[in-house]
Amino acid sequence: MADIASLQSEILATVAGAADEAALEAVRVATLGKKGSVSALLATMGSLSPDERKFQGPKFNGLRDAVTEAITARKVRLADAALDARLASETLDVTLPSRFENSGTVHPISQVLEEVVAIFAELGFGVAEGPDVEFDDYNFTRLNIPPDHPARQMQDTFYVAAQADGDSHVLRTHTSPVQVRTMLNAKPPIRVISPGRTYRVDSDATHSPMFHQVEALVVDEGIHLGHLKWTVEQFCKAFFEIDQIELRARPSFFPFTEPSLEWDMRCDRRTPGKITFGTGNDWLELGGSGMVHRKVLENCGIDPTKYQGFAFGFGLDRMAMLKYGMPDIRSFFESDLRWLKHYGFQPLDIPTLDGGLSR
Ligand code: PHE
Repeated sequence: MADIASLQSEILATVAGAADEAALEAVRVATLGKKGSVSALLATMGSLSPDERKFQGPKFNGLRDAVTEAITARKVRLADAALDARLASETLDVTLPSRFENSGTVHPISQVLEEVVAIFAELGFGVAEGPDVEFDDYNFTRLNIPPDHPARQMQDTFYVAAQADGDSHVLRTHTSPVQVRTMLNAKPPIRVISPGRTYRVDSDATHSPMFHQVEALVVDEGIHLGHLKWTVEQFCKAFFEIDQIELRARPSFFPFTEPSLEWDMRCDRRTPGKITFGTGNDWLELGGSGMVHRKVLENCGIDPTKYQGFAFGFGLDRMAMLKYGMPDIRSFFESDLRWLKHYGFQPLDIPTLDGGLSR
């Protein structure tokens, strides 16, 4: 039947020519809709004789199927094209900086962490990491703090419930276990810092149960206390952005260092709410340090007759408080937006030594 074939090609051409989804819908209504041309043809089937129906039926149905299929395919094409057009017109340049008034600020701890990494990168240190939930073995035993050692009570430890595999875990009480991880995995020369979260059962204006430390570890041949002192000095000058500083070393004790020293920096606190470094008669505690104990080197597979090392662990939160004048450590972790707006840093001001650490 010539007219069915030509009707079909006519309809298919209209379908192909439908420019948008609305035009396509109009074609569908005009053909397959209740009063459409194809539906009208199909309706004539009832009045045909059985023989004619046998002959015409498949042709009518074929027409309906061909039109349905063409409309469905065209619909998908048009939807794709509409989506492409929308994607093209709504392109966003995600590399553009956000608007100043809408942007969040960088938390002072993150800023200080970036500053510390920048300073030590300049001195040739890499960054090493360890988990917050640490093996008891790495946090204590390999650092020369055996299970019954009183030094375990010095650090008010959060213990983690016993594990099925028999390992005991703690929330790390300091960043020193990263020393162990580093020495177990690398051969000297080693020069790394490890900033991160640490945990102790303690809370007041200057202590938070979660706080931050930065550990430094250097292991090589011929390392001595002079290297330790120089490194601490360079770090403090760069971090506090002053050339004139005075450091004081006090003898101390840590099971994992021998000898052990604690470092203080000369400062002036006579004016309330203000602190000046380099002058005055007050001393500010920076943290502990020492020469890596030979037993610790041995516990980590390093020959203490060949290699020596120094390490220190300073409190990052306290350094941030001092540098940026924040009085209470607890406000660091309260997520108060007003506090963050006041003390936060601009996201794009990435600290560098030459650009100024704390712009
Ligand atoms: N881990 C010690 C502490 O948290 C600090 C320290 C680090 C001391 C490295 C010596 C060497 O108190």
